[in-house]
Amino acid sequence: MSRNGNRPNYKLTYMDFFFKIVKKRRLSLFRRVDISGLKAKLIFIMLLLSAILMVLLLAIYTRAERELIRQVERHTDELSAAIQISIEQLTNPSDEISDIKLKQYVERVKGKGIKEVSILTNEREVIASSNPALTGKVIDIKGDRVKTSSEVQEFMSIAKGRRNYDIFLPVVVGNEQFGFVHIAMQFDDFAELMHSNNIKRLFATGIVFVIGIITSVFLATRYTRPINNLSAAAERVASGDLAISLPEKGGGEIKKLTEHFNKMVKGLSETKELEARLKEAEHLSTIGHLASGIAHEVRNPLNFINLSIAHIANKFSPDDERCKEEFINTINGIKGEVQRLNNMIVNFLDYGKPLKLKIQNIPLDTIIEDVLRVVEHKILEDNIIVEKRFSEDDLTAPVDAQQIKICILNLILNSIQAVEGNKGRIIVEASKNDEHIIIKVLDNGCGILEENLMKVYEPYFTTKEVGIGLGLSITKRIVEEHGGGIDIKSEYSMGTTAIIKLPAHKG
Ligand SMILES: Nc1ncnc2c1ncn2[C@@H]1O[C@H](COP(=O)(O)OP(=O)(O)OP(=O)(O)O)[C@@H](O)[C@H]1O
Ligand SMILES: [Mg+2]
Repeated sequence: MSRNGNRPNYKLTYMDFFFKIVKKRRLSLFRRVDISGLKAKLIFIMLLLSAILMVLLLAIYTRAERELIRQVERHTDELSAAIQISIEQLTNPSDEISDIKLKQYVERVKGKGIKEVSILTNEREVIASSNPALTGKVIDIKGDRVKTSSEVQEFMSIAKGRRNYDIFLPVVVGNEQFGFVHIAMQFDDFAELMHSNNIKRLFATGIVFVIGIITSVFLATRYTRPINNLSAAAERVASGDLAISLPEKGGGEIKKLTEHFNKMVKGLSETKELEARLKEAEHLSTIGHLASGIAHEVRNPLNFINLSIAHIANKFSPDDERCKEEFINTINGIKGEVQRLNNMIVNFLDYGKPLKLKIQNIPLDTIIEDVLRVVEHKILEDNIIVEKRFSEDDLTAPVDAQQIKICILNLILNSIQAVEGNKGRIIVEASKNDEHIIIKVLDNGCGILEENLMKVYEPYFTTKEVGIGLGLSITKRIVEEHGGGIDIKSEYSMGTTAIIKLPAHKG
């Protein structure tokens, strides 16, 4: 193996190392810069604006430079022709001096810097000139500073706001000086060109700036709008409005921020809901404990009253027919009120207890008849017209009769209470529909305000002075335990329809 073969290839190792670092850096840079992010967008816009500015300025400079070069080339050509004539004229005096020829060349270069070209003797007397008025005159520049010398002399002066440049070119052949060629120049034309170029440059820069400002304002508005929306939403959240959700549009940081904000608000609202439920549960449990104690105590005397009433009705019924009727009415009235109180207590005590259903197949119309019998006295007392509409179908359903009785009683009692003092009319319907038995209790009572319609199933929601607000809440629970549902439709001051749906008996 050669020595070279054994030597490690350092060059290759260093290069590998370098590329590895570059690769690593590039990767981490790309990972850090999210291309859809605000930062990347701003960098891109700045780069774009700089590129536009550079291209624009470059174009203007190139154009101006080309124009300048073209002009200078033209001047040089014209000027060399004029000088050529002058020299020929001085060195070859036999030739006829042509002021016209000189004038022609100068005319062409006039306006581009050259004002006059004159041929002077050594004594600076004009022997020929593009300006014939000068012929025969002696040219003096600022107190006769032009020397009879074989050197080129230049003079700068400002007259009437114009910059003049005078060149005296000596025409020397061998040791003999024949005279001067005097070239009078004015730089204002070049200055004008430069000035117009400067204006163009300024104008271009201005345009780029205006574009930049418009773009910046547009972008600032576009990017700050979602931030402003977020800030307004945060303010609303701070004031307690948690039903807010912002549209998660676009990409990058703003989208991420909106997503996090929405998540945060959702979390807050869930926490708030949980807190409210916890509070309600605590409230219910306190009331429940207190009330169930009282309810138990009330139930015993109620049972005693019920039994005593039955005993009185049997034992002390008067013989006189008129008195007997009044006696029975009063007894029934007491029975009805005791039943109502008992119902309230049952509702109360059952609320919160897990339901243990004793399911039996029972025709629901018989349950409705039982319930109507219980409230018969109240119906008669309040002059309420009750209409029963039972369909011919088999209305049997697998239910816990006692529980469903409570439900129907709650609905009918609500209707009786709603039509109180009115020309009350209650319709109780029972029908079958595919797989369900549907019970409807309709009344022409006071109806329910729209804002209360959603609250009627809430426990302890009541608009009545003597109500507890558990009737519909318990009814809903029982019906749902049976696999059915409840719906309340109402129009304020027109009436209410309560609908119960229960799975029918399949058989
Ligand atoms: N048929 C109806 N007509 C008018 N309002 C009704 C009717 N049914 C229910 N409501 C309204 O719904 C509320 C809740 O009814 P729910 O039966 O749950 O409680 P309650 O009747 O007030 O008290 P409770 O039944 O516990 O004695 C009532 O207070 C009443 O405002
Ligand atoms: Mg009720």
